[in-house]
Amino acid sequence: MALLEVKNLKIDFLTHDGTVHAVKDLSYTLEKGKTLAIVGESGSGKTQGAFALMGLLPKNGRASGSVMFDGKEILNLPTRDLRAYRAERIGIIFQDPMTSLNPYLRISRQMTEVLELHRGMSHSAALAESVRMLEAVRIPDAKNRVHMYPHEFSGGMRQRVMIAMALLCSPELLIADEPTTALDVTVQAEIIDLLVDLQEDFNTAIILITHDLGIVAGTCEDTLVMFDGRVMEYRKTADIFDKAEHPYTQGLLAAVPRLDRKVERLSTVSYDFVAAKGEA
Ligand SMILES: Nc1ncnc2c1ncn2[C@@H]1O[C@H](COP(=O)(O)OP(=O)(O)O)[C@@H](O)[C@H]1O
Ligand SMILES: [Mg+2]
Repeated sequence: MALLEVKNLKIDFLTHDGTVHAVKDLSYTLEKGKTLAIVGESGSGKTQGAFALMGLLPKNGRASGSVMFDGKEILNLPTRDLRAYRAERIGIIFQDPMTSLNPYLRISRQMTEVLELHRGMSHSAALAESVRMLEAVRIPDAKNRVHMYPHEFSGGMRQRVMIAMALLCSPELLIADEPTTALDVTVQAEIIDLLVDLQEDFNTAIILITHDLGIVAGTCEDTLVMFDGRVMEYRKTADIFDKAEHPYTQGLLAAVPRLDRKVERLSTVSYDFVAAKGEA
């Protein structure tokens, strides 16, 4: 049985100017421990498509279709029921870490609270586990830094803290929504590397959402290309790089200069691409 099966997901937003059809038809399947990239330009419905799974749509949003997680329908579950999934079985990391970190609380407090609440740990056990997770995401001197506030970390380190928070309860699924977009090129590479390692260590399934096809080259088994709320292409990542079927995907690929098919990890070419776009 697949870990996650999304079928004919549709998302509408009711606005003063009428209905916005943000996601028109989205279907995909994710097996346990596998990685899927969802790629598409800004506004194609990637974020809302992921938020709908977790009951995080804005108030004016309506979702229909089906989302089966571990054999259970979770689309449009009451928030109360979804909360257990969110904390314990599905982790999410956002482009901006401050979306999930509280600026006024020490990291130690934010992490231990989760473990005390969801795992029933004592405070000292929770603190030890928090330090262990910060070490897992390679934060140096985690023992001391666990007591710092979010603003005392650099952008890349904050992103690591958020990843550690998302992995605290060993979720089966991690959704990473443009996790590196706000970071500079070297740090982007480190974070993607880290996600790949963690995925192997924790056997977490990952959905990596990005607008940059270059990022997914060596990272994700499958790639789904979205355009205007629909699936343009959904295949093995290697096949997409080998011979993309849709003109839209070919266009996205054309923006990634010369990527060899057998990229071991994230190709350096893709970093050049990012740098060429001036995002460094
Ligand atoms: N609360 C909202 N009300 C109306 N439209 C929205 C709302 N939130 C998102 N949208 C629209 O949904 C579409 C998809 O957005 P999003 O999923 O954020 O795209 P992406 O993540 O691919 O950039 C966009 O056209 C966006 O304007
Ligand atoms: Mg988005």
